[in-house]
Amino acid sequence: MSTTLPCWAATAASAMWTAGAGADDLRRIPDQVVPHATAQRASPIYGVTIPERYREWELVAVAYEQPFDEFRSILGNPLAMKAFRSGVLPFPNGAVLAKLAWKRVPSTAFDGAFVPGAATTLQIMVKDSAKYATTGGWGFGRFIDGEPVDEGQHRTCFACHQAKAMAHDFVFTRYAN
Ligand code: HEC
Repeated sequence: MSTTLPCWAATAASAMWTAGAGADDLRRIPDQVVPHATAQRASPIYGVTIPERYREWELVAVAYEQPFDEFRSILGNPLAMKAFRSGVLPFPNGAVLAKLAWKRVPSTAFDGAFVPGAATTLQIMVKDSAKYATTGGWGFGRFIDGEPVDEGQHRTCFACHQAKAMAHDFVFTRYAN
């Protein structure tokens, strides 16, 4: 990979895989990551792909969304974590956030406990203030089974994040201590 490109450079990463140059990286992704697998196709509008090895990022917080009855984990790359911990906004260019979602299912081992069921979606936000100047500096990608969803769904992302999370640089999640 060119040293001038940050690790999340979506088009560079997908171009590498197309060329076969990144095959080693792909093989290192553990099996259990497959439902939230690394996609080779970029999201419409934004051209965001699933970042390599995002499952190795740190946890920002968890969330539960009632209408969907889903658990979520929000992870951040090192630049994003630094921003969360320092509390300095806006997030710097190169910050990337990943939100992983699973259905909430009862534990088969323990009554009253709930655990993650099937993985549903993986959502990504990439900060690049020049490239995504019209959407608060954020590029968005939503993936199901490693494939980006349609353009219509991608049109909804910024509107909601803008309406409800503008004061926190369009990011809902706060760092959970
Ligand atoms: C109707 C409102 C709404 C829409 C539309 C929406 N989001 Fe979000 N998003 C949220 C909320 C609320 C959270 C906080 C975590 C949670 O509750 O799951 C969130 C969290 C996130 C996060 C974690 C960082 C953060 O802001 O907390 C990412 C990444 C994300 N969304 C990506 C997307 C993408 C990609 C799309 C479009 C495909 C999208 N979102 C559309 C409401 C929305």
